[in-house]
Amino acid sequence: MEELMEKILSLCKRRGFVFGASEIYGGIQGIYDFGPLGIELKNNIKRLWWKKIVQERDDVVGLDSAIIQNPNVWKASGHLERFYDLLTECKSCHKRFRVDHLLEELNIWEPLNKNIDKLVEEMKCPECGGTFTPSRKFNLMLKTFVGPLEDESTITYLRPETAQGIFTNFKNVLDTQRKKIPFGIAQIGKSFRNEITPKNFLFRTREFEQMELEFFVKPGEDEIWFDYWIKERMKWYVEILGIRKENLRIRFHTKEELAHYAKSSADIEYKFPFGWGEIEGIANRTDFDLKQHQRLSLKNLEYYDEKDKKSYIPYVIEPSCGVERIFLALLFDAYEEVKGGRTKTTQSKKETEIVLKFNRQLAPIKVAILPLVKNKEDLVKKARDVYEILRKHFVCQYDEVGSIGRRYRRQDEIGTPYCITIDFDTLKDNTATIRDRDTMEQERVKIEDLVKILQEKIIND
Ligand code: GAP
Repeated sequence: MEELMEKILSLCKRRGFVFGASEIYGGIQGIYDFGPLGIELKNNIKRLWWKKIVQERDDVVGLDSAIIQNPNVWKASGHLERFYDLLTECKSCHKRFRVDHLLEELNIWEPLNKNIDKLVEEMKCPECGGTFTPSRKFNLMLKTFVGPLEDESTITYLRPETAQGIFTNFKNVLDTQRKKIPFGIAQIGKSFRNEITPKNFLFRTREFEQMELEFFVKPGEDEIWFDYWIKERMKWYVEILGIRKENLRIRFHTKEELAHYAKSSADIEYKFPFGWGEIEGIANRTDFDLKQHQRLSLKNLEYYDEKDKKSYIPYVIEPSCGVERIFLALLFDAYEEVKGGRTKTTQSKKETEIVLKFNRQLAPIKVAILPLVKNKEDLVKKARDVYEILRKHFVCQYDEVGSIGRRYRRQDEIGTPYCITIDFDTLKDNTATIRDRDTMEQERVKIEDLVKILQEKIIND
């Protein structure tokens, strides 16, 4: 299974999905850059989320709040005081560990904070068998300074979640958008956490993007909406992203696991090669955040319910997911290897072919345009003309290098659903073939119908 992770890592680097950040300087742990194909895949994930959550709903609006906020936001939200992991260090090899990860690794299940000092004292380092230092709290927020002075008064933080920018704008949105409860505010943006042990490639990083919805509901109706959002979100992964059902599960949090703001919580988990891992959390945050912001800002954040003729602080149901974790899950889910090749030609029999069977709407490149040969001027000109027409509608790639079989395989490896081949018949009757990535079947169509046919094929996926 580790081998599969290695293969995905290598594919990401080789084909330009993901690079280590600042690689030329030796990199920086837990931070990644997204290459030309990675940015397309990321944008497609975000677009499909926004379409489902904002565009297709009357009861959700969008927002883009700042990454840096007044530090009081983090005081009110509880992040300054409670957003920490317990850290311990091996006295012999000096490797640092998150205490909860150690407990997990050593198969010890004890709620955090309960006998924790004693547990740490008794544990042995999984790397060298040494003993551990007493654990200490390590706040996960990344600090910075705003303005020219670098002292206590100018400290602020890079946001660890996008949610707080939504809570601080609750009244602004309410006053300007004529929304009535239940309604939601959605946001996509970067979040930062100074993770002690970033690991598993894109799974746990220090800089990542979140897609979060804060859905405001009447107290008492929160549990109905909690169930509703769990079902809706699960449907999105299966029906829209096309992730295999058997690789997804819902895991409800135990009382001990709940975040300081949550009444109940459920994770949507993906079956990664390194084990089940959370890709989305759905939490019932109650009225915790708005109440806290009302208390600290001294601004009234109540909602006036015209029907009931009374004011209240709404409860919040929050589906929150990470773009990079979904990105990683999609890569694993789409990855297929065919030893000896799919076409069984003499050449391909010697190779292992890789196909990324992305849902067509997610594929970074939708259409590749391939002239059969590159040394026939009129054929190349025709292929370039077709490329110019298609690129106005789809993200396309033009490729004339190598044999046609090799070019198909290059496109299969990055998940391109359709290849358009321009051959000698094209010059005679203005037709071209569309090759399907998954079936490898070829269909001959008129060039003037190409856009419409491809649009239908991609949208109907
Ligand atoms: N506002 C709630 C919140 O932030 P969370 O469970 O801490 O809840 C939500 O994070 C989602 O953000 C996770 O399900 C995961 O997909 C993503 N995420 C959290 N920490 C991450 C990290 N260090 N690296 C990559 N993604 C992360």
